[in-house]
Amino acid sequence: MRSIFASCAVVVLLLAAAWADHHEHHDHQHHDPHVHHHGPEHSHEGEMSCHELSNPNADFAFALYKNLNAKAEAGKNIFYSPLGISTALSMLSTGAGGDTHSQLFSSLGYGALNQSQVNEAFEHLFHMLGHSQENQKLNVGNAVAVRTGFNPQQQFQKDVKHYYSGDIFNVDFTKPAEAAAEINTLIASKTQDKIKDMVKDLDAATAMVLINYVYFRGQWEKPFDSKHTKKADFHVDENTKVEVDMMSRTGRYDFYQDVDNHTTVILLPYKGNSSMMVVLPDKGKMKEVEEFISKEHIHHWHDSLRRNSVDLHMPKFSISADASLDSTLKELGVTDAFGDNADFSGISDEIKLKVSKVSHQAVLSVDETGTEAAAATTVEIMPMSMPDIMELNRPFMIFILKHSTRSILFMGKINNPTAV
Ligand SMILES: *[C@@H]1O[C@H](CO)[C@@H](O)[C@H](O)[C@H]1NC(C)=O
Ligand SMILES: *[C@@H]1O[C@H](CO)[C@@H](O)[C@H](O)[C@H]1NC(C)=O
Ligand SMILES: *[C@@H]1O[C@H](CO)[C@@H](O)[C@H](O)[C@H]1NC(C)=O
Repeated sequence: MRSIFASCAVVVLLLAAAWADHHEHHDHQHHDPHVHHHGPEHSHEGEMSCHELSNPNADFAFALYKNLNAKAEAGKNIFYSPLGISTALSMLSTGAGGDTHSQLFSSLGYGALNQSQVNEAFEHLFHMLGHSQENQKLNVGNAVAVRTGFNPQQQFQKDVKHYYSGDIFNVDFTKPAEAAAEINTLIASKTQDKIKDMVKDLDAATAMVLINYVYFRGQWEKPFDSKHTKKADFHVDENTKVEVDMMSRTGRYDFYQDVDNHTTVILLPYKGNSSMMVVLPDKGKMKEVEEFISKEHIHHWHDSLRRNSVDLHMPKFSISADASLDSTLKELGVTDAFGDNADFSGISDEIKLKVSKVSHQAVLSVDETGTEAAAATTVEIMPMSMPDIMELNRPFMIFILKHSTRSILFMGKINNPTAV
């Protein structure tokens, strides 16, 4: 079946400084002074709304974009899930203390919040996302692979399960290849086999792997008709062009031409509460737009969109992108977590832990439709005036937005739709 999908996984690897044999298999319970109970009496009253995460997560999303873009080789596609990365790091911060915690928090944009508020907002977010909708599949989840014999703090385990709906399971990291295979099998099953080889070369000293995955499959509310898909040139840069399958559709779209900011914006809705915002900088203006773009522009464009007749040409493509986020996160201020002075006392107060690696992998595939039948059902009354033309035949940016939670599920830049 053809469909539009985007999927990603984020993994955070935590290493132990040393494993002393006597630390394994012991069941000494530590009293945690911060323990509070989440019994069945737990209610939603007074809890944080996921909308409180919207601004900080969006700021973090653009900070990531600027950093990843500065590192990307010319012509490379950029694609990642801001929501996935914020989630994985927020889950990590539940186990962090001291400067390790404050650095994570300020980089994530949570300066005005505390950990309980962030946890509650994520609980609400997963609750909202859990309402799956017809014609759309969105699966966001978390898991934690814990070294067999290692007992993380009870409070950490509770928080991961309760607020992040995280499954905790044991893995024998002393057999790294088998442990990696086990984690990869989990990620593959959660992403419908879109992401298969996420972790490789695990260190035998691994204590824990934090995992986040996002799987999204949508259907255009206004599918393209494949009869109108033709070969066309896509201009990767002034000197490079590639041939793409260019889909075409003339219809009524939410559209905005921002002349001052050298950009044309169109919103392509999916069935169910999400859409793809496509941002096409004017010829030669990508660099300039990338420099100024922020969540304020997304808001401004969203509010400025007007229903117009548009003659839309969009390539059909599948891309995949992976990124090691270690240097990016360090440059954004998360430094202690990676060092020997890391404080993950919320995970273990007897074994020194530090983050050894944070990696992200994502795939995106866009084509005409979701169901062939749907194509015939959309009838639009077109005014007699000439439609605006939007031709995505040069690099453009995309944002997959979930309206009900005000989240950026995915974002990126398509520099070359034919690059794999
Ligand atoms: C977090 O902030 C809220 C609101 O200011 C406050 O009610 C709560 O006690 C704080 N929690 C912690 C653990 O500091
Ligand atoms: C989101 O879904 C709700 C009901 O499920 C609907 O009332 C609302 O208009 C939708 N919002 C968007 C932007 O599609
Ligand atoms: C250009 O972007 C800025 C910042 O979002 C906004 O205030 C301004 O209105 C935009 N210009 C137009 C013509 O929309």
